[in-house]
Amino acid sequence: MTPSVSDTETPSQSAAEQELEQARARLDAGDRAAALAICRKYLSRDILLPDACVLSVLLRDLGETDAADQIRSVVLETVQAEARRDTIATAGVLSGTELLLSLDAIDEALAHCKQAHARAPDDQEIMNALVSLLINLDRLDEAQAVAAAYCDRNSEKFNVLIHIATIFSHFEARDFALKLLKLAEGQCTDKNQRAKIDYLLAANGAAVSNLDQHGMAVGLFDGFADSYDEKLQTLENNGPAMVLAALQDLGLPKRKTRRVLDAGCGTGLCAGFLRGYAKHLMGVDISVAMLEKSRARGIYDLLARTDLSIRATYPEDQYDMIVCADVLVYFGALDTVFGNFHDVLVPGGWLVFTVENESDPAVQARFKLYPSGRHKHSQDYLCQTLTRVGFPKPKLMHRVRLRNEMTQPVMGTVVAVQKSALAF
Ligand SMILES: C[S@@+](CC[C@H](N)C(=O)[O-])C[C@H]1O[C@@H](n2cnc3c(N)ncnc32)[C@H](O)[C@@H]1O
Repeated sequence: MTPSVSDTETPSQSAAEQELEQARARLDAGDRAAALAICRKYLSRDILLPDACVLSVLLRDLGETDAADQIRSVVLETVQAEARRDTIATAGVLSGTELLLSLDAIDEALAHCKQAHARAPDDQEIMNALVSLLINLDRLDEAQAVAAAYCDRNSEKFNVLIHIATIFSHFEARDFALKLLKLAEGQCTDKNQRAKIDYLLAANGAAVSNLDQHGMAVGLFDGFADSYDEKLQTLENNGPAMVLAALQDLGLPKRKTRRVLDAGCGTGLCAGFLRGYAKHLMGVDISVAMLEKSRARGIYDLLARTDLSIRATYPEDQYDMIVCADVLVYFGALDTVFGNFHDVLVPGGWLVFTVENESDPAVQARFKLYPSGRHKHSQDYLCQTLTRVGFPKPKLMHRVRLRNEMTQPVMGTVVAVQKSALAF
């Protein structure tokens, strides 16, 4: 049972994943023989690295320790050989760490990350991975030391402090996060930075009145525009694809007859597919830097600076469709924005948007701000708020993976609701 491990992506990958999931399901249902048969079939083929990790864990659970150990050794050797190369890229380090963690090779994963951090101490992604791992292993002092050294070396103090505070608060290490946010307050030079800190303080349980949504969004996205597309690609952003899938599921004919508003268009990631549905495609956003990126795509008919919560800043127009992808997470209460959308849609017009899912029962009918600086909204809250401003029940609410964050999937909902065609 010697596996040859291939690390190239093949089209059969997802079928393979499904088979392994099936084997796990059989084992969980007590059918050891069926699970083992699937694993054995596997061992005669080339196996992708991530699948090899799953297979090794499965074989161990099946009591096939020798086969599990063999695969584990092949994965360890492959990852470690890759790490010894002079030119290993950040993505290689991160995926190597994930593979080792999925094999429960904790010491090896930590050593892998530490070695990469020593070689590239200014690489933010590798520092993130190392700090996250140390926090998860309850080695808080070491995590703080790595973070403090990274801050000391970096001249962009405000952004770095905020960034690291976010990692610590994500893993519920609130005290250190608050300490970093207090240090960031000392570096704060304008009202947008102040707004950003207030959001993070509030997400960490500090009492803050009057959050400045406008200032937070401008501060965040003006500074993010240059790296936005690349960063979202690293996070395997799925939001625009999910919006397109919703339009297809609704069966909306792809006709260039509509006036379409991309609300919070950002750098224009939805523009390409919206063009196929639009006679007139308009993008609005609060961040000028993001709007500039959209303009560079050359796809929109009109771009304008608009605050979605202020009706008077919308272009004077009525729309057949509004798409709002990955924007409402930056708002808590949605009455005003939904009310504005209802106001600028024609009767029978569509609103399609994404939100992050709030599943905490304590927040059932509401929304909550998280250390990510984004809100999660409960489905009850969305439906009640849409109804309050005059929309009927949504036609579609699909639970989807929006992207990853700190290697975990961020789950959300894509919602489509149609304004009533008759006013009464
Ligand atoms: C995560 S980006 C999403 C961009 C784009 N829709 C996409 O799917 O890639 C969120 C966008 O919402 C915009 N935004 C946040 N608050 C806003 C507000 N009050 N009015 C208008 N745009 C806002 C931000 O400037 C940013 O471009």
